[in-house]
Amino acid sequence: GRRRTRGSGMLEIGKLTNFNQAVLVEGWYWVLASDDLPAGRVKAVELAGRPLAVWRSASGAVRIFDAHCPHMGAHLAEGKVEGEALRCFFHNWRFEADGRCSHIPCLAHQPGAGVGLRAWPAIERYGLIWVWPGASPGAFQPAPPSIEAAAVRSMLGNRFRKACHPNVVMVNAIDEQHFRTVHRLPGDILCLQAAAHDRHAITFRNTGQMPRTHWLGRLLRRCYRDTLYYELSYWYGHVGVASFGPDFLHLHVLFALRRSSDGGTEGYTVALTRRHAGLLGRLRDALVLWLTRAGARYFAFGDTRIFQSIRFNLRHPIAADRSVIAFIRHYEQQASLDWSSE
Ligand code: FES
Ligand SMILES: [Fe+2]
Repeated sequence: GRRRTRGSGMLEIGKLTNFNQAVLVEGWYWVLASDDLPAGRVKAVELAGRPLAVWRSASGAVRIFDAHCPHMGAHLAEGKVEGEALRCFFHNWRFEADGRCSHIPCLAHQPGAGVGLRAWPAIERYGLIWVWPGASPGAFQPAPPSIEAAAVRSMLGNRFRKACHPNVVMVNAIDEQHFRTVHRLPGDILCLQAAAHDRHAITFRNTGQMPRTHWLGRLLRRCYRDTLYYELSYWYGHVGVASFGPDFLHLHVLFALRRSSDGGTEGYTVALTRRHAGLLGRLRDALVLWLTRAGARYFAFGDTRIFQSIRFNLRHPIAADRSVIAFIRHYEQQASLDWSSE
């Protein structure tokens, strides 16, 4: 359709509005590791420039509020959890799970329904707490393409930082050319095909041919029938699942990213595998998850030199960048969320 060629093999991608910008596209974003928030505690988190107070009630439910108290603006992470409610430290206003203010000390008539603050949809999955920075949350979808979401077992991996925008980290995993130049993969071994599932999800599957002559190809042919198994699936803006490994053992690593207040990236890796039943199954799953988590370190800490100094700007896209372009186009058609700080 709109893919026009300029001279000398350059492609046109048009003006970008969502990509590389401060706005968030519709989706779930991680805020904290579940283990970092015990019952009865409240913590400050900033997501894409917006300050939040994340707290866990006495019964274990996670709530995510706008951070600043509607009374005078105190940060609610200074406050205290009281059963299923949160009380501001400053003048002790009390807020219920939905953000409604239910008690103001030294006030004869308690506030009506209109007084309160914004409570954002929250969920816990894969050992992380996630927020939906909009009004009506969609289902939590991220899972390896070959595994039903309900059949996934997970293990939280490493926390990492990058000095660039999360989108730059996201596209790195499908930047075919850099696997040849930086990671020295031989010629035709990687050839990614994009398939968009819906507005929120797109998958890149390797269809490349194993080389017959290269030593690496001969070695890999022992583990793979004819294609190196490598699949990348993306959800929303900043969640990706990389799947790889020999034909007899597929490993899956989820990357949960978010933009930090300094414009960089904060992320977690999560090891995922298909759930097996029984004692032996649990043991197998634990072993595979542990192995996956170790492998994920390579992805989490690789290419760091480039990420320190890059100013991502795809000014001259060429045919070899088609996967990156497909990612950007998919990202662009997702709805952006109202996440401006007032
Ligand atoms: S600032 Fe929170 S109660 Fe006054
Ligand atoms: Fe890389």
